[in-house]
Amino acid sequence: MVEAFAVASGKGGTGKTTSTLALGMALSASHDVTVVDADTGMANLLFHAGLDDVEVTLHDLLVEGTGTDVSDAVYERFGMRVVPCGTSLAAFEAADPARLRDVVAELAADADVILLDSPAALGSKSAVLPIVLADRVVIVLQPTIPSLSDGLKVQEYARSYGTETAGVLFNRVREDVGIDRVAEQAERYFGGETLATVPESDAARAARRAGEPLLAHAPDAAAAAAYREAAARIDVRPGDEEAVAARFRSAVVPDTP
Ligand SMILES: Nc1ncnc2c1ncn2[C@@H]1O[C@H](COP(=O)(O)OP(=O)(O)O)[C@@H](O)[C@H]1O
Ligand SMILES: [Mg+2]
Repeated sequence: MVEAFAVASGKGGTGKTTSTLALGMALSASHDVTVVDADTGMANLLFHAGLDDVEVTLHDLLVEGTGTDVSDAVYERFGMRVVPCGTSLAAFEAADPARLRDVVAELAADADVILLDSPAALGSKSAVLPIVLADRVVIVLQPTIPSLSDGLKVQEYARSYGTETAGVLFNRVREDVGIDRVAEQAERYFGGETLATVPESDAARAARRAGEPLLAHAPDAAAAAAYREAAARIDVRPGDEEAVAARFRSAVVPDTP
């Protein structure tokens, strides 16, 4: 069984990578989890997961003719399978984003949950590919009106490809923002519930500096608890991996603008 989630937002820097690894670790308590850095142009998961010195990454799988096996880019870390992406601009330019379909299809065979750390969806048309591939999307928001409105555009894109909203995650929430009211508003407009509100957190920054996911670096932090709460609210659906793999392989790649 497998369900694939895109962890997405309208713009960069909202905490998608932090959230992908935190949800992944929390879900790995009860599921086989694979996380993929599908943000191939602004990859940063490798820095969050202490994988910045590895040889083989997703980029090698996306460039034709390298002969790299998918398993060569899979690293067992923090109780999950992690597929990092490199940061070289040359590799990004040589990569064929459409090959992500086959990579994710192959990863689906060994996972209950696939989390696709996704590009800022409003960046370019090809940036929505992970959203096209995913069963559902987790939308990461900051508690501001512009961020909510970007998130609604992401949901609109996702729906146009048949991808429903699993829920909304507010990140970097400061005490003074009146989050209850914002979350109440959000629940009216977004398909899924508010999964959690994650506070602005020194522990999240320290984890990034240490090259460890938040839940490994500071499991007792309030932000870590919020992510565990979010993961508990996601009812993973047991999709048939053959059907999911077939759907990935045949997904229509949006045109680049
Ligand atoms: N809850 C938080 N509190 C404080 N800093 C955070 C929080 N979440 C993320 N960050 C920091 O914000 C920066 C961007 O987060 P990241 O997860 O890399 O975002 P994205 O992948 O969306 O670009 C990182 O330096 C990260 O450590
Ligand atoms: Mg990122």
